[in-house]
Amino acid sequence: MRFFLDSANLDEITQAWNMGVIAGVTTNPTLVAKEGQDFIPLLRRIAAVVQGPISAEVIAIDHESMIREAKLLAELSPDIVIKIPLMDEGLRAMKTLSGIGIKTNATLIFTAAQALLAARAGAAFVSPFLGRLDDIGENGLLLLEDICEIFAVHKLETKVIAASIRHPVHVTEAAKIGADYATVPYPVLKQLGKHPLTERGIAQFLADWKSLEKQGEQKQI
Ligand code: E4P
Repeated sequence: MRFFLDSANLDEITQAWNMGVIAGVTTNPTLVAKEGQDFIPLLRRIAAVVQGPISAEVIAIDHESMIREAKLLAELSPDIVIKIPLMDEGLRAMKTLSGIGIKTNATLIFTAAQALLAARAGAAFVSPFLGRLDDIGENGLLLLEDICEIFAVHKLETKVIAASIRHPVHVTEAAKIGADYATVPYPVLKQLGKHPLTERGIAQFLADWKSLEKQGEQKQI
């Protein structure tokens, strides 16, 4: 399983990219609105940092306008993937765009049937939203399991992105289930590398090394 960063914040994206662990970025209108910046120049800045898929969502809800927006976004960089909400017009747009070589990411997936439809419409990625299902008392990981199983049984090439990730357990479970990607918010990405015993161990090693230096036994490395 690979990581995407779920963010439109350029500082977060730059830091995550420099950590060397993310393969790309996913944005959505809510994340972009938080930045209070014009979408197109922001996407250009993100594409200057990230070499990998960058999902940018269309706002339109009819086929023609979706295609117009998608073409405009796709022109910004070959890394742009067009995020399209799962709806009838959206499925049509996925089909049209895949026919002209523009990759799409089917978003707001809440059932396995929706994921299968998107795959058959030619989506390159599907994004089941785990956290939002958990929020309403369902289990998002069960949905992810179903989608991964169906895609494996039918040998579908569409990649599965575990989305709406809320905590590290979502990430490890998604990896066990076999998701191709998890798109994680920056705080969760940071959390993944943390453990109190790791921090305590580092502090202990440094303290012991200093005591060796104090004894005059250790020359500068
Ligand atoms: C996915 O691509 C979405 O941007 C994202 O994961 C939504 O997550 P949320 O439920 O935390 O808003």
